[in-house]
Amino acid sequence: QLIRGPGTPQASIASISAASESEIRELARLPLEELKALARAAADRVHGNKVLLRGLIEVTNHCAMDCLYCGIRRSNTRAVRYRLSHEELAATIAAGRRAGFMTFVLQGGEDPALAGDGLLRLAETARTAAGPEAAITLSFGIRSRRQYEELKAAGADRYLMRFETADPELHRYLRNGLSLEQRLKALEDVRAAGLQLGSGFMTGLPGETGETLINNVLLAQRLGMEMGGVGPFIPHPETPLRDAAGGDLERAVRATALLRLALPACHIPATTAAGTIHPEGREQMLEAGANVLMPNITPVVHKKHYLLYPGKICIDESGFQCVGCLSVRVMGRGLRLSWERGDALPVVT
Ligand code: 5AD
Ligand code: FES
Repeated sequence: QLIRGPGTPQASIASISAASESEIRELARLPLEELKALARAAADRVHGNKVLLRGLIEVTNHCAMDCLYCGIRRSNTRAVRYRLSHEELAATIAAGRRAGFMTFVLQGGEDPALAGDGLLRLAETARTAAGPEAAITLSFGIRSRRQYEELKAAGADRYLMRFETADPELHRYLRNGLSLEQRLKALEDVRAAGLQLGSGFMTGLPGETGETLINNVLLAQRLGMEMGGVGPFIPHPETPLRDAAGGDLERAVRATALLRLALPACHIPATTAAGTIHPEGREQMLEAGANVLMPNITPVVHKKHYLLYPGKICIDESGFQCVGCLSVRVMGRGLRLSWERGDALPVVT
């Protein structure tokens, strides 16, 4: 029996054991529906039927990196670049607070303008606008240990940085020379700075195998990450991977379910990328144990320019409209939206 413990939602987390490596390998061979049911049951026991809401704000699409898969890579000269002003950011967060959001996820490329103390100033603006109660999550790639510490001191609570793939060779190739080791070192620095740690990976990357998927889940577990995002790779026409096959939904949903069973306490979003490749992609991820949704509250004028991949959903809606849409979508699955902060739970491995 993989899942132990009383059946009450939010039961003692310690009573739910994480799947071991051999169990993960076994689970990976299950038919999709069986795997999803196990993962959803684990999510129900730890997280109940709540789906945590986070307001996503895409702060800048300038990026010094040149990842082969990414639509805002430096070499994509067709990307229309933007950067929110401090005033726009503050106004977006204030509107988010009025709507009820208690977590704001600020995401951006590795924008040279945010080097030095640029990101620090942004974190301070965010903290002021959000007030002392709401959580601030940042996602701006690799920084120094010292910078993570300063961000934490400025009021950031959490940091997200996917490792993208656990395959070192594939990582180096797709990230244009950046090693997996460098990425993992940065994740260690995030943790050492006392920030809640989020990471994750893409599924269906070119050159990926079934073993890669298992290794992604095992690496996520080793990291003990408290938040974990999984999304299918979607080829962008203005990148070197334009002709690659994208990831399919089943693989992304399987990965989500395995991640849930490997890390029962982890906050796992039903991702926009999943919703982009299939109209019910996010619902499928919720059924596979995801417990977070991240409506995109970036000002609508900028939203369409943050295109990591083509076809992104909810481009013309404000994130506040999405909340209504999402509440209907989760209700159909016996779930309900929650405005709680949703801090990291102690991770049991
Ligand atoms: N398809 C799907 N996901 C992508 N990301 C970047 N480019 C793509 C793409 N083409 C993901 C990466 C990154 C996150 C913000 O978006 O995993 O960490
Ligand atoms: Fe954005 Fe449905 S979630 S429109």
